[in-house]
Amino acid sequence: MTTFVDLAAWLAAEPADAALKDVVTTIAETCAGISRVVASGALSGSLGVAGTTNVQDEEQKKLDVITNDMLSDALKGCAPVAGLASEELEEIEPTGRVGGYLVTFDPLDGSSNIDVNVSVGTIFSVLPAPAGHAPAEADFLQPGRNQVAAGYAVYGPQTMLVLTLASGVNAFTLSADGQWLLTHPAVTVKADTAEFAINMSNQRHWAAPVQRYIDGCLQGKDGPRGKNFNMRWIASMVADVHRIMMRGGVFMYPWDSREPGKPGKLRLMYEANPMGLVVERAGGKATDGVTDILDIQPAKLHQRVPVVLGSANEVEVVRAEMRA
Ligand code: AHG
Ligand code: MN
Ligand code: MN
Repeated sequence: MTTFVDLAAWLAAEPADAALKDVVTTIAETCAGISRVVASGALSGSLGVAGTTNVQDEEQKKLDVITNDMLSDALKGCAPVAGLASEELEEIEPTGRVGGYLVTFDPLDGSSNIDVNVSVGTIFSVLPAPAGHAPAEADFLQPGRNQVAAGYAVYGPQTMLVLTLASGVNAFTLSADGQWLLTHPAVTVKADTAEFAINMSNQRHWAAPVQRYIDGCLQGKDGPRGKNFNMRWIASMVADVHRIMMRGGVFMYPWDSREPGKPGKLRLMYEANPMGLVVERAGGKATDGVTDILDIQPAKLHQRVPVVLGSANEVEVVRAEMRA
């Protein structure tokens, strides 16, 4: 029987300060708790809508609210956390402490999949907090390169935690007795792929470069790419990105003309930045089409951004099309 290192032992050997390890441990333990609530579904009465909308004017599911409360409460009780921000909270929440870390999160990603028992996840990003004063919203608006830790939990056939701290990406599987065990050390994203992920139902609304890129893929062997492509779209960013972490691929949620004033659907601070860091640390790339996601200077907490990420060479093909 193979033995696996658990998260605590793995963290002990990582070159990070104890306070950051405390934050990561708190998030990991909360995600293990979220996994139990997600798995209980109708048995705990946690499916269905909450009857409220969030700051993005999206209908909240009961699980969006439950998981937001779980993470908020846990982080408020974690000494090194000075402030938090969530997809489900209009404003940042200072914890009353100064220094240490800021955490942003999407407590439940893939809300449309909850009630149909398809994989959902939690995404998190950890940034340094300012020293000397309680954090304000402006203190959260740091480019993704500043992240000191980021990752996600995916609640799927297995519950997994995919994490990056100072370097590299490691993936842990939740055991039946509630331990995070290192099952996938040093995850890398294949540089080449023949698999793309995009919501094809928006095709007629895309800009010309995205139309050209996808059209090239769809032409397969007979087209400019000279190879056949496969398509997958789970509609949970966590699950789509996790597949790319495991077997390569390119994920896109580009700008489209349905709401031309919106840069994209996904949010920079708690979706694109943490996923961008995980993908880059595994050797992949993440861009808005022009700028690396991690180099974008955020202007607003709930800022949206176009996203293209995954296998490095394929992201470059998309980027070249967007620059043409
Ligand atoms: P959330 O459930 O946190 O609001 O995020 C949903 C996001 C993302 O997970 C996914 O990639 C995308 O929405 C799916 O959008 P479509 O329904 O437009 O395909
Ligand atoms: Mn999301
Ligand atoms: Mn969400």
